Amino acid sequence: MTDHTSHAIRLRSVSRRYGAGDSAVTALDGVSLDFPRGTFTAVMGPSGSGKSTLLQCAAGLDRPTSGSVVVGGTELTGLSERRLTLLRRERVGFVFQAFNLLPSLTAAQNVALPLRLAGRRPSRSRVREALARVGLADRAGHRPTELSGGQQQRVALARALITRPEVLFGDEPTGALDTRTGREVLALLRSMVDGEGQTVVMVTHDPVAASCADRVVFLVDGRPAGELTGAGADAIATRVTRLEAAPC
Ligand SMILES: Nc1ncnc2c1ncn2[C@@H]1O[C@H](COP(=O)(O)OP(=O)(O)OP(=O)(O)O)[C@@H](O)[C@H]1O
Ligand SMILES: [Mg+2]
Repeated sequence: MTDHTSHAIRLRSVSRRYGAGDSAVTALDGVSLDFPRGTFTAVMGPSGSGKSTLLQCAAGLDRPTSGSVVVGGTELTGLSERRLTLLRRERVGFVFQAFNLLPSLTAAQNVALPLRLAGRRPSRSRVREALARVGLADRAGHRPTELSGGQQQRVALARALITRPEVLFGDEPTGALDTRTGREVLALLRSMVDGEGQTVVMVTHDPVAASCADRVVFLVDGRPAGELTGAGADAIATRVTRLEAAPC
């Protein structure tokens, strides 16, 4: 019997091709990967290696051309648009490099948005609790322009987590932050994995950020190119340097 319980996400032979003919691009080329529950995985690789495409396929934001994606026991292949939308809304959380908060809404209103979109009336205490989790209980009434970059990303995290998703995906979530603020966001992600058993999958170009993860998965040309487990930033940086083509 297949065990669907230990893996939050399971990809089997996932390919994603864009376009056709001479201009066709293979962004993912037969990727098989498992993301165990309660673990923190970093995804690294050169620009254009397929990292964002991998995350979007794993999160149900994009459909693979072929292969299988299983999220918490649910096979995404063949799901109707409506079911896929529900899964995205309720079972995965996503944060981006650009925080993508709605500027006219307060922090609390931004955090409440996923529940409102799902037709639920978010209780004040649930929104307050989500903001408190990211250390922003005292900023509920502030609009994004009144918050620092790190605070905006923490609001985006609270918004991604309010539905209690099985997996939290981050596509370069610290990419737009200065070093210190980025570290705060990473510490928060780490504590969610350690304290609450959250599963986190994060794309990053930063070896220090990746060293916060339990495991680093490397991608090259849309294919897995090795992993490191429990590695420090130096070992990760060395591996990244080897994967990148020499510029001269
Ligand atoms: N919508 C699209 N149409 C055509 N090609 C695409 C599309 N999206 C991505 N690609 C191509 O797929 C490949 C992988 O893109 P992807 O965005 O996943 O890379 P990435 O590893 O996230 O890169 P980066 O580090 O620069 O963000 C690239 O060659 C890209 O040009
Ligand atoms: Mg990308």
